Amino acid sequence: MSTTSARAGASTTSPSAGTDGLAIRGLEVVYNNAVVALRGVSLSVPEGGFVSVLGANGAGKTTLVRAITNLLFVHDGRVRDGSVTYGGQSLLDAGARAVVRAGICQVPEGRMLFPRLTVDENLRVGASTRKVTAADVAAELEHVYEVFPQIADRRDEKAGLMSGGEQQMVAVGRALMAKPRLMICDELSLGLAPLIVKDLFELVSQLNREEGMGVLVIEQNARVALQHSNYGYVMETGKVVVEGTSASLSEDDYVQEFYLGGAGEAKDAYEELVARYRKGNGS
Ligand SMILES: Nc1ncnc2c1ncn2[C@@H]1O[C@H](COP(=O)(O)OP(=O)(O)OP(=O)(O)O)[C@@H](O)[C@H]1O
Ligand SMILES: [Mg+2]
Repeated sequence: MSTTSARAGASTTSPSAGTDGLAIRGLEVVYNNAVVALRGVSLSVPEGGFVSVLGANGAGKTTLVRAITNLLFVHDGRVRDGSVTYGGQSLLDAGARAVVRAGICQVPEGRMLFPRLTVDENLRVGASTRKVTAADVAAELEHVYEVFPQIADRRDEKAGLMSGGEQQMVAVGRALMAKPRLMICDELSLGLAPLIVKDLFELVSQLNREEGMGVLVIEQNARVALQHSNYGYVMETGKVVVEGTSASLSEDDYVQEFYLGGAGEAKDAYEELVARYRKGNGS
């Protein structure tokens, strides 16, 4: 239960993934057998839910994404305790491709496009983990171009020549090519103009509402993330320190002040709140 949401008088019920969604319990991650980056993180994304994870630099947000997508090994990291399940099945040790086949796809931090490949070729990479016919790929490509008409006209241009916002559209489009049931976006807003961020979030929300795609956004832009999600978690130094409905977190002066650039008295009070939460959770 969240101290924050209890104080705001909103629902204090954590989203229960049951066997339908993503469930992370007591996750501990270590890099190089030395740096502990996650310390007992638990969170849930119900099937078709929209959840945000907020936190400052180094809080462990990207590490969480790497753990879910089974890509920690690329960074000399490993899960040393805890569980990650999707639809009741363990994802740990399943391999990165198996995670995508299970329906989880990410828009990685920094987009990670192939700059010398065209927009079209980058999008096709997203379908490569599925056993699909050329007709399926063509249909999915048209779906992505319908969602992002801005990149449709430029499908034969090199991705590296597109603007930051257009490249982010290609990155989201590439994830959509895998027909995800859950899309994880790591810093969707990073380096983009506010209007582009607004458009991208509205689009992801629309896919969530109309196609039932679950969404987990990892964000430093707390305002936009809480505006669109149903539930949120705040991470600090490898732990979840506050969680609650997005409405209750947005209304919370302390979270607002701390994550939207405030300081001083509100920050002190926020730290007191976090200390109370930690005590309540025995952490
Ligand atoms: N490959 C790595 N090897 C060793 N330590 C790492 C590695 N990657 C991340 N870390 C450490 O793990 C911690 C969490 O990093 P992580 O990248 O997950 O944070 P983050 O919340 O995504 O930060 P940001 O907002 O800057 O993206 C940090 O202390 C970081 O230094
Ligand atoms: Mg990160």
